[in-house]
Amino acid sequence: MNHLISMRDIKAGDIEQMLLLAEKIESGKVKPDISDKVCALLFYEPSTRTIFSFDTAIKRMNGKSIIMAGVESSSVKKGETFADTISTVSQYSDLIVIRSTVEGAARYASEVSEHPIVNAGDGSNQHPSQTLLDLYSIKKTQGTLENLSIALVGDLRFGRTIHSLVYGLSHFSPTFYLVAPSHLRLPSYIRHDPALKSVNFIDSPNLAEIIPNLDIMYVTRVQKERFVDAEEYEKVKNSYQITRQLIEENNPKQSLKILHPLPRVNEITTDVDETKYAYYFQQARNGLFIRQAIISKLLGAAK
Ligand code: CP
Repeated sequence: MNHLISMRDIKAGDIEQMLLLAEKIESGKVKPDISDKVCALLFYEPSTRTIFSFDTAIKRMNGKSIIMAGVESSSVKKGETFADTISTVSQYSDLIVIRSTVEGAARYASEVSEHPIVNAGDGSNQHPSQTLLDLYSIKKTQGTLENLSIALVGDLRFGRTIHSLVYGLSHFSPTFYLVAPSHLRLPSYIRHDPALKSVNFIDSPNLAEIIPNLDIMYVTRVQKERFVDAEEYEKVKNSYQITRQLIEENNPKQSLKILHPLPRVNEITTDVDETKYAYYFQQARNGLFIRQAIISKLLGAAK
């Protein structure tokens, strides 16, 4: 692995190795050291979890970070091209983590940069480090990635965490229950991708009915920033709300976990937080170990 751009590129064996490394890092069995490395975090789009967990991961391994959080204070504002920005930052750093509004930006950066690129989200396309932490969270809570039943709830059309997760889990024979309003359905280029022939997709307009079947409920925010039409957003913004009552009245498995990449708006009420089903804050914490694993692997600091 020279870069981490898309879950479409990652094989089952690579996923399993990455999760194993994250587990060893979390338990303290492996302590990667990148004290001679500088990592650049280039964020063209807002972030809390991804930017801070990458930065913390770098610092926990004794590395240094340089950060662009938004374009306001950079020469992007003066009209510098994306390619020139990447070429320049790659002179100062050993690895670049990049988030962009533009689909394909990270792939393009990997063609320009002299050093590894990590895609921290490119528009509605992919968010592979999120998926690796999601898979780590699923494996930790379910003991396996194989043959699981997962509800994907909310914005399946623009949700890059959803798109990545579908490819990441596709190696492990999942059943996905798709719970979304018609405007936010999973794109057909994903649903009918021949690479996903071992995936079972089931349209499920009634979330309550499928709750007893689920191992994982993966909830996402309806992302206002992805809509070109404000009226369309208004129509679908409150399509789903996960409440404690909804979960507890519908016979969930005791092992059910609710995941969310966060941030949430109103799609999970706060009374769910105190149930044993809520796992989204631990999920965010798991991002630390996975991001240490990703960086150390790409920099050759861990085998
Ligand atoms: N999950 C995620 O990407 O969160 P942030 O947008 O806060 O980084």
